[in-house]
Amino acid sequence: MRPRIVVTRPIPAPALDLLAPAGELWVSAEDRPLSVTELHEAVAGADAVVTLLHDRVDDAFLDAAGPALRVVANVAVGVDNVDVDACRARGVVATNTPGVLTEATADLALALILMATRRLGEAERLVRRGERWSWSMTFHLGRGLQGATLGVVGLGQIGTATARRARALGMEIVYTGRRRASPEVEQELGARFTTLDDLLRTSDVVSLHCPLTPETHHLVDADALRAMKPSAFLVNTTRGPVVDEGALVGALRAGAIAGAGLDVFEREPEVHPGLLELEQVVLLPHLGSATIETREAMGLLAAENVVAVLRGHAPPTPVT
Ligand code: GLV
Repeated sequence: MRPRIVVTRPIPAPALDLLAPAGELWVSAEDRPLSVTELHEAVAGADAVVTLLHDRVDDAFLDAAGPALRVVANVAVGVDNVDVDACRARGVVATNTPGVLTEATADLALALILMATRRLGEAERLVRRGERWSWSMTFHLGRGLQGATLGVVGLGQIGTATARRARALGMEIVYTGRRRASPEVEQELGARFTTLDDLLRTSDVVSLHCPLTPETHHLVDADALRAMKPSAFLVNTTRGPVVDEGALVGALRAGAIAGAGLDVFEREPEVHPGLLELEQVVLLPHLGSATIETREAMGLLAAENVVAVLRGHAPPTPVT
């Protein structure tokens, strides 16, 4: 029997073209997240499932899929939506899409750094409102980045690519994380490894690039925000729950930090109403990897993972 391949939401055509000859392909007709019931119905009897970051892959999902399931290919680098241990316990291979979205996501982190420090969202809203303005020596001043310190939380692929861009702007780099970077990367970036506490106290911009795990849930809480300089900015392009959104609203209202640039939220697509009222916050709808080229590459990599596992080969990018 041909393997049943389930794709929970439309993905770019080249990925579907790669999957089609590998089995019986079922692709959700809806370009929206499936409800849990719909998702569980869709995956029943699947040999392979291509999931999106909003699909929860847990024991209930694996039960619903049944014993034929061999691979779950998540179209994202983050796997916080996938219970990787539960997959492993059942012999299901979990894969993700690292590498192909590094540059696009780092570009977006840089955009948020610039937007937040130069107050560009606020400025654009001012022009659109048709407000009167005129150039003056003191009109709408932001913060310069030359010589400022970027604190990178998680110097993995995306953190490193963001730090490279920041170096080009003349920023100094400090970083923290589970692992120390290689001496080559540290040297290239002139990056200093430090504790989270020291990073928070010394950085002018704190950019989050760690994965969401139980350890990093609310890593940036009220205490962390209090530790930051009142002139500092927080940028988040990883996952919303790394930041306690309520505490962030409180810190911004109190002037404990100067501003924030957020591409991700605790309860997407909802945004804390307090954030919407604050001019010093830039809010983007989870666009980190949202370029045509990157989304095509992500879809293709997920499809390559599926095809490899179904053929009995090692997938290119398993989650380890
Ligand atoms: C996107 O957010 C990803 O994790 O790939």
